[in-house]
Amino acid sequence: MLHETDSVHCDATCIGIRRAETADIPGLLAIEEHSFATDRMTPRNFRYAIRKAKGVVLVAYRQGSSLESTAIAYGVVSFHAGTRFARLTSFAVAPGNRGRGIGRRLLAALEAAAALHGCSGMRLEVRADNQAAIALYTRAGYRSFAIYPGYYEDDMAALRLEKPLVSNG
Ligand SMILES: CC(C)(COP(=O)(O)OP(=O)(O)OC[C@H]1O[C@@H](n2cnc3c(N)ncnc32)[C@H](O)[C@@H]1OP(=O)(O)O)[C@@H](O)C(=O)NCCC(=O)NCCS
Repeated sequence: MLHETDSVHCDATCIGIRRAETADIPGLLAIEEHSFATDRMTPRNFRYAIRKAKGVVLVAYRQGSSLESTAIAYGVVSFHAGTRFARLTSFAVAPGNRGRGIGRRLLAALEAAAALHGCSGMRLEVRADNQAAIALYTRAGYRSFAIYPGYYEDDMAALRLEKPLVSNG
């Protein structure tokens, strides 16, 4: 049986991106569990982000597959009054789907959504030991502007990264 996070032959060219719905939450929690040892999003966090929060939750899915509705990656962006910076608060690709450009595409879609909302930049925190994510963000144009020592539950530091966004509007 194909598990919902197993890979099929699919790279960034055959994925679609859509807004998350509450029906996605079990799948998002599975991705979360396989992606983070600490500081995980809870069902409540996801419900709030999808239904109520000022922001956007996008998921990537495999176009044309029998599992088309299944999320294989997600990103949560929040918007805040008083700042033109959007904040990427959670972002992950299901393990079997990594290394195929899906993270890069989903990040670009989240940035486009933030720019459309009128944000002039994106900010995020990333664990200082998360080399894959730091490489992804650096390659996408993010630069480090601060460090939060002991930011995570296990006391790991966070790098604060930001990127200016170009508005198409
Ligand atoms: C970080 C993560 C989102 C990357 O997603 P992905 O779909 O595998 O990334 P992509 O295939 O789009 O890679 C884009 C770029 O990121 C970098 N990158 C991605 N994975 C990497 C790895 N394991 N090692 C080094 N660089 C990596 C590369 O520069 C790559 O570009 P290239 O292939 O042209 O060299 C994914 O590994 C993940 O979900 N990790 C666990 C959750 C997590 O850490 N989230 C971020 C929290 S801040």
